[in-house]
Amino acid sequence: MITLKDLRKSYEVGERQVDVLNGLDLEIKQGDMLAIMGRSGSGKSTLLNILAGLDTADSGVYQYKQVYISEMNGNQRAQFRKKHIGFIVQNFALIDSKNVFENIALPLRYSKLSRGEIRDRVDRVLADLRITELQSKAVDTLSGGEMQRVAIARALIQNPDLILADEPTGALDEQTEAEILDIFAKLNQQGKTLVVVTHDQVVADYCQQIYYMQEGKVAPITS
Ligand SMILES: Nc1ncnc2c1ncn2[C@@H]1O[C@H](COP(=O)(O)OP(=O)(O)OP(=O)(O)O)[C@@H](O)[C@H]1O
Ligand SMILES: [Mg+2]
Repeated sequence: MITLKDLRKSYEVGERQVDVLNGLDLEIKQGDMLAIMGRSGSGKSTLLNILAGLDTADSGVYQYKQVYISEMNGNQRAQFRKKHIGFIVQNFALIDSKNVFENIALPLRYSKLSRGEIRDRVDRVLADLRITELQSKAVDTLSGGEMQRVAIARALIQNPDLILADEPTGALDEQTEAEILDIFAKLNQQGKTLVVVTHDQVVADYCQQIYYMQEGKVAPITS
């Protein structure tokens, strides 16, 4: 489904050049559920941002099915992202001034769907994530686990093929973490492909493959 080949990316920080991706290769198959671990600053979020089409590498190939994302301009990448990607970003990035329903519906705002169709779609993900009763609540009144579910619901609203999650259980207790993992497992059983960045071994062990990011590359961890 996805091939990354020899991705390179560096930042100029003052006089210094920091190489974040340094010839990274990765193959992701449709229906995979894979974890990416690695130290803080090793480039995990950078990699997810590239997979999402939010950021680009300096060089190398990003192929998604038959399409070369690495050849696309910003507009084309935005279209690609809208169509295929569900992104659960580090720290949720919900809009505090809007309620749960509005946050989840946000990606549909510029779609051609009618209000009724939007209502139906949001109702469905609310039910799937068991947060129907939260829909009118202001987002800044929710608990961490509730916010996480809203962030997942928003990522799912466009029915993406590829779900990217950056530290999705970071601040959650064990019980809530288990519930989130259960949601991910169900999505995976439905045929979704998931890439989960995590520091948490419990989360990683839930995935079929674990990769470790180091020195600008990822390598599988074999247990
Ligand atoms: N816009 C930027 N300008 C300069 N350096 C950057 C920029 N964005 C990221 N970096 C650097 O790139 C490296 C990788 O950052 P990244 O956020 O991908 O790490 P990470 O593995 O996600 O870390 P964490 O586990 O803390 O979230 C870091 O050294 C970071 O400081
Ligand atoms: Mg990060």
